[in-house]
Amino acid sequence: MEQIPREFIQQLLERVEIVDLIDARVPLRKKSGNNYFACCPFHNEKSASFSVSQNKQFYHCFGCGAHGNAIDFLMNHEHLTFPETIESLAKLTGMEIPREKKSAHKSISHQSLYDLLTQITQFYQTQLRQSPIAIQYLKKRGISGEIAKEFCLGYAPPGWDNIRQTFGNATTLQPLLDCGMLIKKEEGGYYDRFRERIMFPIHDKRGRIIGFGGRILETGEPKYLNSPETPVFQKGHELYGLYYALRANRQLTRVIIVEGYMDVIALFQQGITYAVATMGTATTANHLQRLFRHTSEIIFCFDGDQAGRTAGWRALQQVFPLMRDGIQVRFLFLPDGEDPDSLIRKESKEQFEQRIQQAVSLSHFFFQALANQTDLTHMDGRARYVKLANDFIHQLPDSFFKKMMQEELSKKAGIHLDSLQPRAHTKTLNPVLTKAKPPSPLRLAMMLLVQYPELAQCYHEPLPQLELKGFDLFCELFNLAKQHRLTTGSILEHWRGREEEKLIVKLAQLEHMIPQGGVENEFLGALKQLNKLAQTLIIERLLAKASQQELSSEEKSHLNQLISTKIV
Ligand code: CTP
Ligand code: MN
Repeated sequence: MEQIPREFIQQLLERVEIVDLIDARVPLRKKSGNNYFACCPFHNEKSASFSVSQNKQFYHCFGCGAHGNAIDFLMNHEHLTFPETIESLAKLTGMEIPREKKSAHKSISHQSLYDLLTQITQFYQTQLRQSPIAIQYLKKRGISGEIAKEFCLGYAPPGWDNIRQTFGNATTLQPLLDCGMLIKKEEGGYYDRFRERIMFPIHDKRGRIIGFGGRILETGEPKYLNSPETPVFQKGHELYGLYYALRANRQLTRVIIVEGYMDVIALFQQGITYAVATMGTATTANHLQRLFRHTSEIIFCFDGDQAGRTAGWRALQQVFPLMRDGIQVRFLFLPDGEDPDSLIRKESKEQFEQRIQQAVSLSHFFFQALANQTDLTHMDGRARYVKLANDFIHQLPDSFFKKMMQEELSKKAGIHLDSLQPRAHTKTLNPVLTKAKPPSPLRLAMMLLVQYPELAQCYHEPLPQLELKGFDLFCELFNLAKQHRLTTGSILEHWRGREEEKLIVKLAQLEHMIPQGGVENEFLGALKQLNKLAQTLIIERLLAKASQQELSSEEKSHLNQLISTKIV
């Protein structure tokens, strides 16, 4: 059998994002920190005990104990063999398995698109600095120089072939077409898609530039022109501003969805750093799913006019099937004729946040919008209202929220609805937590290192020498983590099939109550204990020897030194 090099498997794991991999198969929702939750796909359950850690690149079910890295997940979920899983992941990431030659060019070509788009952004930025009318336009719209720089705003100068002239050569022509910067003429030849426009680079959530929006200066049609769908830009997935929101907020407690580029930027400039916008399309369920991985509250922002209400209703329909306990959705309708950009320049940040504060809840908007569609003064109107509402509520996933909506409906309509069975049980404390006992320093250090491999970088002394069960394993792990960037998931991979695998897996799953900020101290503390133990053992051994025979002068000075520097 052909062996797939271990090194390749590790590289593969580095490329795969376990959260995305799992989310595509089992929709995840963000709960705390970098952890995501869902109902476990490996056993039958009603409440979510399946957790996926982005930092650790590791999943774990508190209910049935299923666990592992991205490879394990795919193997178990899709019932694949190990080599099949590697092949499938390699395909997914566009990597080439070293033993056979195929399909590596996909990721390379993606990379070349990102590179091109980055260079083009810089070109547009340079053009902006040289264009007084473009600068004037941004000034008039109240955008500060700093914000323009932060959002990498630029200017596509007049002319039909700036991009082709500057970037086009035999190898880049196709990529320029692929990323939508050039358009092919029917009669042959190419021209630039964007001309005489303020350019808004669009970043994916990891900060790679994937496309542009371009606004015309002053008036003209179309007002905004966007990059087309390309291999790296899918409008139904991407949200303008998400990268900046994630960057500016350690924890995204809420996200406001606005309509335009300028809204995102104007809000950001005034300190509201959690706005995102779709790009010329309505919000899709996919947008929302992606957002709920990063936040538990979404506020839709719309114009106050009828069009805004209609858009609001459409958004509500998208979000309804996603409404699970623990997430919140609200609707903010602005005064007629205003958008966030115009409003934030008239009002203070506080006033705007006040509006956000007062945004109506999903249930409020829902019942109100339905009531507006039906005539509640007549019985058939009321019946229609109940039917409509009930059909909608039916789409909600089973949750307390659903039950509350049903109760609300029965109250509003004055009809007794046979409500759902109360929930059979609520989950008790997870079993690992309840039987936790204080671990030995070695076990503690080892557990922390498995869960936070980057800790190896904060200990700079040589490791002590200890003859303890498991200490060799610790040293191996430490040295590995010192030399490579690892995640819990990749550590598991390293030990796959080895005798110590079980122990490593167990350590990976241990729940501890150490807050993120205290992890480093705990780790260094445990190592100090281990050093102390090592010293004590040597001292004891030398003293024992001394009671039998005279120590050599070397041993004497060693003992003296140990005793005088003894760690207390
Ligand atoms: N949009 C678009 N194509 C258009 C018009 C609009 O893709 N032809 C998208 C853009 O993403 C834009 C958003 O819809 O940011 C909102 O457009 P609109 O309400 O027309 O403009 P504003 O955001 O108010 O733009 P501005 O303030 O620059 O006039
Ligand atoms: Mn506007």
